[in-house]
Formats: sequence, structure tokens, C-alpha cells
Amino acid sequence: MQRIALVGFGTVGQGLCEILQAKRGALRARYGYEFAVVAATDLQRGTAFDPEGLEIDALLAAARDGQPFSQGQRDWDAPTMIRECNADVVCELAFTDLQTGEPAIGHCRAAFDTDKHVVTSNKGPAALAYREMRALAERQGVQFLIEGTVMSGTPMLNLAQGPLAGCTIQAARGILNGTTNYILTQMELGMSYEDALAKAQELGYAEADPTGDVEGHDARAKVTIIANVLMGAPVAIQDVDCEGITNITPAEIEKARAEKARWKLIGAVERTEGGVNAWVHPEMVPLAHPLAGIMGATNAATFATDLLGDVTIVGPGAGRQETGFSILTDLLRIHRGA
Ligand code: HSE
Repeated sequence: MQRIALVGFGTVGQGLCEILQAKRGALRARYGYEFAVVAATDLQRGTAFDPEGLEIDALLAAARDGQPFSQGQRDWDAPTMIRECNADVVCELAFTDLQTGEPAIGHCRAAFDTDKHVVTSNKGPAALAYREMRALAERQGVQFLIEGTVMSGTPMLNLAQGPLAGCTIQAARGILNGTTNYILTQMELGMSYEDALAKAQELGYAEADPTGDVEGHDARAKVTIIANVLMGAPVAIQDVDCEGITNITPAEIEKARAEKARWKLIGAVERTEGGVNAWVHPEMVPLAHPLAGIMGATNAATFATDLLGDVTIVGPGAGRQETGFSILTDLLRIHRGA
């Protein structure tokens, strides 16, 4: 029985719980995976704890109705809950802060201090403190798993670390932000930038502060994570050159169309003689190029490898269910002991 604590119960936490509810029987039957959500904390809903397991339906109902959690209420803040609860795994699903990484980094430290695994889609700890997080996890013999930080549930990091483990990844290049790809797609269809951004927020793609998406900071965090996790390069986020999509006007979209091309926000990491080069900027991609066909909130990444040549993965890059799934995939990885 895997005991789970949820830190943050917004889009991702609710998406995860909906999947866990819907698939409880199938996960048990297929993989012998059984779980209990023993603790949950959220700034709006307070903290709930039951060492035997909380009712997931009641957690979801509280979120739907905008009410505090109704069971096992505790007067605990998040770090206290993380330390005091009997979870095996802490799912850190609070908001991303790419300036400080907090409060998520503190949540991860509290989990590692008390020998708990961390699974997170929060880019703060992974982009700003990956080495420290890995070292703390290794010292305690637990895992720090972050599939959801890049391409949401599309298994980009796990693909590179698992099936591609025997290859050297020489470069990774792709469309790593769903919101901006969605906006560029909608602008091409005639929607205004403002309406497309509002729709991306409504669909749950955008960050709480969408400036991070449109100015490229979200993609920059992902590029930093790829450099650190998949290339072992100690790249700091501020080392990644970054330009977003805010200068792409309808006139620029038309110009690309006339040139049989399409604007895409590209993030890339390449090995060089002395280390790695990493950047994020918009490119006019010729329509014949595979990345030009990636539309909406879909993401894509191509790994240039030594043994296989190019390997490309395409899939959702954002969304409630998609990111909820990214957490499930890492929970199952812990269950498998992989
Ligand atoms: N805001 C992010 C995006 C969410 O649009 O890609 C997933 O990291």
C-alpha cells in the first residue's frame, strides 16, 4: 500500500485524484498497485489527515464547492503536515515560483528529511535546485521524480532515462510550452492574442501568472531541467538565453504564412566541446519541418542520440488530466521500484 500526501490541491492535485478514483480497480488488477491518500493540504482548503486514508470523493467535492476539507482537519501548515504524516510519497503540487523555488523547495526538503519520496510537476525545485534535491533524496534512499515538469504526462524524461539510457543524448530540441503553442495556433486561425491567452488559462494550460509562459520563462525552466537531468550539465536558469512570443504580432504570423513557415517557440540544449548551450526563442519553422505540424497545447521534443540518431516524442504538454497523469506515472515508477 503506497501512502500519498498531496501538497496543493489545484488543477494537478484534482486531476490526479480523478484518475486515481477512476482507475483504482484497474491499477490494482494490472500492477498490484494499491494506494491511500493519507494527507492533503491546500492554501484555500486547509489540511486534512487520516493515517488510514482520506475519502477522495470528499476532497474533490470540497474543491468543486470551494469549501474547506471536511475530514480529518488539522491545524498544520504544509511543512508540518509533510513531517508529521505517515505518507511514503509526497506529491508536491503547489504553485511554481521560478524566482525562489519556494515554498516547494522547502516542502521537498521536509519530505526528504523524513525519508519520504517526492513526486512533483513543480518546476521550481527541479529548475533551481535539482542537484541539491537529488543529493538529499539519494542520502535518504528515496526518489525525486519530476516527469511532470517537462511535457506534462508525455514521458519525455522517463523515455530518456529509461529506454534511451544506453544512448548519449547530444541535443534535445522542441516545443516545450503548451500555452504559447496554443496561442500561436489560435492566432494563426484568426483569434486575438488576448482571447487566445484567456482561453489557454481557461483550459488550465497557463501558469498562475501566464507571463511566465508568454515570456518564455516556463520553457527556459524546462530547458534547464533537461540540461541538468538528461545531460548532467550544471546549467543555471539564468544561463539560458530566453525570448518569448510577446513580439509576435498578427503581421508576423502573416509574414510566416507567406513564407510557407510557422512561428514556434523552440527550446534547445546542445552538447558542446566545453559543456552545453541552452536557449529558448521563437523560430519561423518551415511547414515541411516536423515541428511545424505540432499544434495547440501539444509539445514535441527530438533527442539527437549517438546510437539511434533522432528520436522524437510528441504529446500533450499541459492540462489537468495530462499533468495529473504525470504524477501517476512516477507513483507507479516508485511502486515498481524502478
Ligand atoms: N504552463 C505550462 C505550459 C504548463 O503551458 O506548457 C505545463 O508545464
